[in-house]
Amino acid sequence: MNARCNLLSLSSHVPSQVLTNDDLAKMVDTSDEWITTRTGIKERRRLAATENASDLGYKAALKALDEAGMKAGELTHVIAATCTPDSLCPSVACIISGKLGAGAVMAFDVSAACSGFLYGLSLCRSILAQDPAARILFVCAEALTRRSDWTDRTTCVLFGDGAGACILTADDRPPLATLEDAICKSDGSLNQLIIVGGGTASQYKQGDPVGSDFFIHMQGREVYRHAVRQMSSICEEILERNGLSIRDVDLFVPHQANLRIIEAVGSRLEIDADKVFTNVEHYGNTSSASVPLALVEARAQGRLEPGMRVLMTAFGGGLTFGATLLRF
Ligand code: UT7
Repeated sequence: MNARCNLLSLSSHVPSQVLTNDDLAKMVDTSDEWITTRTGIKERRRLAATENASDLGYKAALKALDEAGMKAGELTHVIAATCTPDSLCPSVACIISGKLGAGAVMAFDVSAACSGFLYGLSLCRSILAQDPAARILFVCAEALTRRSDWTDRTTCVLFGDGAGACILTADDRPPLATLEDAICKSDGSLNQLIIVGGGTASQYKQGDPVGSDFFIHMQGREVYRHAVRQMSSICEEILERNGLSIRDVDLFVPHQANLRIIEAVGSRLEIDADKVFTNVEHYGNTSSASVPLALVEARAQGRLEPGMRVLMTAFGGGLTFGATLLRF
């Protein structure tokens, strides 16, 4: 597909409350040492009781509009990727669109868990191919701590909250970055490996206490294995499809779930360690928001210069996975 798909802006927002590993060690039988050595995570952000995923996404969206020099009324589409929406209906995209006063835009959510940013970019490219005049706000917003079971040490130490946003168009404005290619896939036969509960399969009558089916469940070791294999192979596929080698990549920005997974994928791809961007240490796994959070931070650190090619990859519940090439 040759459609032009330009990012005019890229922004993020994280809640202010920091939850350190030591804080978690007071809640469950864990330690800073275990979490650091097994995951690389030192701290994560947790949204306030008064906030929802859409509030984080809204704040990121305001910054994305501001950087693009656009008003909400100019948008044609608002799309949100999330696996922790405020509600099953309305969508996070509709809530954000309403708050922004975006008017009669097409608005809907994408459910691709941690691959949500990559799935969303691919979808935006298809929309722009069909409608080159489209002006899309794409938001990734997650409130994973709301579905964390704080009695389950195998999952609650891993996740954090956050949001990312970008504006995408195909017009002649000078872009921040251009989407070169995207591949998104899934293996639905493994859908039980990661579950974020709270959907209609959780069957409660009024007054019933919430059960464990309401929370995040993950078969960590299995997921780890698939994550390393699928992210490595889909990165190889996208490089090969574009006639590129790993040496043509200036920065590798993988989904920030676990430092060991990132290092394993980096080593399979034989990419120089100094080209691998990580910030999992500060945010934990923020699902769809993790790649935009990493991109924004890489930019702030001066690691994304114009002309650089970025390879992104992600993996998550579904199981979904993908790889994307961005040219800054
Ligand atoms: O974003 C989408 C996808 N998600 C992921 O990518 C996550 C993929 N999986 C992982 O990152 C890793 O599998 C985990 C970080 C979840 C777990 O690391 P692991 O090295 O695979 O540990 P494990 O599950 O094999 O558990 C090892 C031991 C167990 O104890 P025993 O059975 O050996 O006595 C666990 O009970 O560590 C224990 N354990 C903990 N100990 C202290 C598990 N969680 C904790 C904890 N603190 N928080």
